[in-house]
Amino acid sequence: MILSDFGERFRAYSGITHLMDDLSEGLAQPGVVMLGGGNPAAIPEVKALFDRVIAELHASGRLIDTLSNYDGPQGKTGFLETLADFLRRQYGWNISSKNIALTHGSQSSFFILFNSFAGKAGSLQKRVLIPLVPEYIGYSDVGIEDGLITSQEARIRVLEDGFFKYQVDFEHLQVDQSVGLICVSRPTNPSGNVLTDAECQQLDQIARRHDVPLLIDSAYGTPFPNIIFNEVNPFWNDNCIVCMSLSKLGLPGARSGIVIANEEVIRYFSNMTAITSLAPAGLGADIVSQLIADGVLLNLCNDLIKPFYQRRSELAVSLIKQAVDDPRLHIHKPEGSMFLWLWFEELGITTSELYQRLKHKGLLVVPGKYFFPGQSAATAHAESCIRMNFVQSEDELAKGIELLAQELRACW
Ligand SMILES: Cc1ncc(COP(=O)(O)O)c(C=O)c1O
Repeated sequence: MILSDFGERFRAYSGITHLMDDLSEGLAQPGVVMLGGGNPAAIPEVKALFDRVIAELHASGRLIDTLSNYDGPQGKTGFLETLADFLRRQYGWNISSKNIALTHGSQSSFFILFNSFAGKAGSLQKRVLIPLVPEYIGYSDVGIEDGLITSQEARIRVLEDGFFKYQVDFEHLQVDQSVGLICVSRPTNPSGNVLTDAECQQLDQIARRHDVPLLIDSAYGTPFPNIIFNEVNPFWNDNCIVCMSLSKLGLPGARSGIVIANEEVIRYFSNMTAITSLAPAGLGADIVSQLIADGVLLNLCNDLIKPFYQRRSELAVSLIKQAVDDPRLHIHKPEGSMFLWLWFEELGITTSELYQRLKHKGLLVVPGKYFFPGQSAATAHAESCIRMNFVQSEDELAKGIELLAQELRACW
């Protein structure tokens, strides 16, 4: 197969492909404890609610209308208005439907946005700046040019009780005219870190000073699914691009993402959607429209989804602390998302090797090195960390943590 330069970039086996392969391989093998992937938990009450809404959409004929028509490239007009109204009421954001575009999931939003704001621009080579790594594995390979991403390693603040927290290292953050976009996820996958309001404000000021947008990936954030365990404020202004997704609400198969930005960005984005895929899918939009109309969207997030993940994160932490009583284990303070990020000092092997050993024993986690987009080589810290999810059943979680503890004891 002879490919163009563009094609060659996507021939390589990337971190995200590795993760998705392990996920489907693990799912297919009975007995494997799957603490690797990012699929949302199957929360029975949430599934039942989606079931009911889909049955209503079917009964009213809206489902078949949606499936038998193309929407416009910006997405379903009715949903754009409903969502703009919801966000205005909820947060007082000064937005209209002209500030929102739907996409085929956030991952495809990043592909468009990263390559639109970074890459070759006349005589300049623009880059996406990730001001804090570890960051989302899915950013690493979306660039159609080499070296699209640059990043800054986080500062580590050691907390009590074996916890730590990452912070943006503003002192060393280098922002120059080569930066075309600044991107953060809030909460952060993999660490469960949630940038503070002050960090967001400071990043916003830096972005404005350099006349580049600040992309906030809110896949786990507010207002939905709101998997955030501490009090922070949502952040948006006309220099921000907030990317939301229906995946972690429980609908990853609907492939629905939402981009909120100023009108110029949204017009551009819709144009790009028309060219690359004609129109976004409408099913997810229909479901969320109905949840907003029924007044149950926020209750779903605040009374079911967020408490579920918060309980699970507390359980995972207590299981790990019981199984691994060792000061060389550090746990990133779980502030949101569906992952625990563990840092092992003096392990004697890299976590890439640990990953292989655990896989052999029937436990899938993700080695830390994949979560450092924009770094030229895996650092010692990257190779001392792993990410594990806490979406599986309590029994699976306990089984997985026991397997991990056994291997850690063997290494130490
Ligand atoms: C931080 C983050 N952003 C975006 C995504 C992708 O979301 P989507 O399913 O909408 O493409 C994920 C998926 O795991 C994620 O963890």
